[in-house]
Amino acid sequence: MCGIVGYIGKKEALPIITEGLKRLEYRGYDSAGVVILNKEASLVKVKGRVKDLTDKLDNKNIIGNYGIGHTRWATHGEPSEINAHPHCDCKKEIFVVHNGIIENYVSLRERLIEKGHKFVSETDTEVIAHLIEEFFDGNLEEAVRLALKEIMGAYAIAVVSLKDPNKIVFTRKSSPLLIGLGQDENFIASDAPAILGNTKRVIYLEDNELGVITANDFKIIDLENNKIQKEVSLLEWNIEEAEKKGYPHFMFKEIMEEGDAIRNVPRGRVVLEEGAVKFGGLEHIENKLRDVERLTIIAMGTAYLAGFVGKYMLEEYAQMPVMLENASEFRYKKSIIDKNSAVIAVSQSGETADTLFAVKEAKRQGALTLGIINVVGSSIAREVDAGIYNHAGPEIGVASTKAFVSQIAVFALLSVFLGRQRGMSLIMGKRIIEELSQIPSLIEKIFQKTERIKELAEKYYKHENFFYLGRKYNYPIALEGALKLKEISYIHAEGYQAGEMKHGPIAMIDENFPSICIVPKDSVYEKNFSGIQEIKARKGKIIAITTEENNELNNIVDDCLFIPKTLEMLTPLLSVIPLQLFAYYVAVLRGNDIDKPRNLAKSVTVE
Ligand code: G6P
Repeated sequence: MCGIVGYIGKKEALPIITEGLKRLEYRGYDSAGVVILNKEASLVKVKGRVKDLTDKLDNKNIIGNYGIGHTRWATHGEPSEINAHPHCDCKKEIFVVHNGIIENYVSLRERLIEKGHKFVSETDTEVIAHLIEEFFDGNLEEAVRLALKEIMGAYAIAVVSLKDPNKIVFTRKSSPLLIGLGQDENFIASDAPAILGNTKRVIYLEDNELGVITANDFKIIDLENNKIQKEVSLLEWNIEEAEKKGYPHFMFKEIMEEGDAIRNVPRGRVVLEEGAVKFGGLEHIENKLRDVERLTIIAMGTAYLAGFVGKYMLEEYAQMPVMLENASEFRYKKSIIDKNSAVIAVSQSGETADTLFAVKEAKRQGALTLGIINVVGSSIAREVDAGIYNHAGPEIGVASTKAFVSQIAVFALLSVFLGRQRGMSLIMGKRIIEELSQIPSLIEKIFQKTERIKELAEKYYKHENFFYLGRKYNYPIALEGALKLKEISYIHAEGYQAGEMKHGPIAMIDENFPSICIVPKDSVYEKNFSGIQEIKARKGKIIAITTEENNELNNIVDDCLFIPKTLEMLTPLLSVIPLQLFAYYVAVLRGNDIDKPRNLAKSVTVE
């Protein structure tokens, strides 16, 4: 989510690190910082972009041959100079940069405060610096190794210390980190673009490996202190390819990151044995939420459709009446809002003007306002009374993909949270949490069928019209599938409730008007099955998306794609993936600009 760069060698470290940070801005860009070590440490941080950091550095004469830098995409604590990395210990001798989320930071922080540590930021990262300080006895890698035994979560970490100088210590778990090998100089980076201009020889760190670089050497050990031999790889990407991790487009890269986006939602937020969910951002209004009688979800575009799935989940599992409103309509029409209502704004960017104004209107009418927002510290995040951050990382492709699944995952956990307040059993809470934790590995299974989806795109990409049909939890997915196709392929596509088909739309069906039917083996499968036969009777072509091992559609429809089995409420997290990939491949075949489709913007900040 954020970017890390480190340098140690004979050259001045500062320009090399800031140059690397500029190349990582696509990973996060709300604040940045560096620490350069000499006899003393020069720590400079800013809220804003790397350019703001270099402006601030301009009139400082910072000299030193090693250091670490960071460009941040906030998760814990809003973007600010204090919350920017590097973070340090009480004595300002140990400096840490970190990507990822420390799940147990609240309990670690409490323990360290009891021992007398003084914290200055709101971040989860700062506990790492103080924990290392606690274990430090002259050897930095040993202190990091011991600290790691206490840290839970996902991380890539780099550390330097004035008391064990001339080395950079680093480690990772579920967050990338690599070493760049040079001549009398070495680098570390969270992503290849940061160091591509300096070296192509790299070593990829694996989970739970701990490394040390000096100007002339490197060493990698495991957490039990055993040395590990590593292979040196050659980077063959240019900078642009590296930013996309070698994938041809950001949209494709972001689809491939969907498993991680879903994994990040429950991180540090679930207590499995209690079947319970805890949202740090809702803590201060937990009691108020108990009294809420009605929910209204407001959003635009893809976020609105995630809200649609959320509505069905909350109605079924939290047993609350839920209205879903397009934010641009909510603002002007009469909506029934009172002091027993909570309004939930869903927005990836947190800047969509329609959604922001709707939040203001809801507040004016006395509602409690909540946000499900990806960008920490964004306008909507600041406007709402309380909220939940997605932690999906920056989304660059205009057509939203990983933010969408992340928003749905948040709604699944919110259903448990509100449901448990309203009589949901521990077993049910636990079941939803457990099933959600399986989703990323099920998504991997769908990715193994990417070639098949590509073949279907080749077969169908010349059609000019598509229907997308779904029922219950997969009706919003039909709408999202159609929206994805419209957005990037410019093909006319309409999503319908499967049951609505025979009330009009079926008149359109002939052999040139294909339908994509989302028909997992769920509580409405039988109903959908008869709808499929009605389309076939009119010679309509059908691509069906159904559950693995359901072979009865094979002989009826033209093409079948299979998704793994999961809880009915979570099927949208799986069924949407082939639809995103289908839209992607169709748009590629039509030669369109995938990441910047015509007429669209990532964030619409005007009404
Ligand atoms: C724009 C984007 C969509 C997005 C919508 C809402 O229309 O093109 O992809 O879904 O805004 O954006 P938000 O940032 O509020 O989720």
